[in-house]
Amino acid sequence: MVKVNTCVFISGKGSNLKNLIFQSRDNSFPIKISLVISNNKKAFGLNYAKKYKIPYICINTKVKNYERSILIYLKKYKISFICLAGYMKIVSKTLIKDYQGKIINIHPSLLPKFKGLNTFSRMLKNKEKKGGCTVHYVNEKLDSGSTIIQKKFNISNKDNETTLKKKTQELEYKAFPEAIIKIFRNS
Ligand code: GRF
Repeated sequence: MVKVNTCVFISGKGSNLKNLIFQSRDNSFPIKISLVISNNKKAFGLNYAKKYKIPYICINTKVKNYERSILIYLKKYKISFICLAGYMKIVSKTLIKDYQGKIINIHPSLLPKFKGLNTFSRMLKNKEKKGGCTVHYVNEKLDSGSTIIQKKFNISNKDNETTLKKKTQELEYKAFPEAIIKIFRNS
């Protein structure tokens, strides 16, 4: 099986990156992680790239048109699929036009509810009964592309932001690989 050359974008802890690295070691998993890009040179997740000898690049997003340099790296590493895994920047049309339908993101809520940041505090404030995560295609509007997979859990009145995050991330580690398998199942 020829694996799809993939770049994972991160900004922080990188636990989804770590999970995808482990999944991709399985011969039958459709992607190979060939590059990691971070907008934060202190992102803990870069340690996983180092440990597993995956090339990584830190991008200075203060530079004008920084996405053009991202594109150059993506071409250099022959990247044809992109996973945003906790990447805290909005991807603009510079990247989207070359990677139309090839960029996916994981978000810690049941979209279209709670787009953007601070999902858990807003969910608690709103007395939501269910939480979850969504893997979706990326378009030019924040957290608005079509859904690939969603996973849910029940929120109890004992939950707080820490427990919600933990429950959400446990689901994310299942949802992200499942979404990738679903995308490439028939190709
Ligand atoms: C995840 O909860 C994801 O939903 C959100 O950012 C978080 C990243 O976590 N977009 P990690 O860096 O993969 O641990």
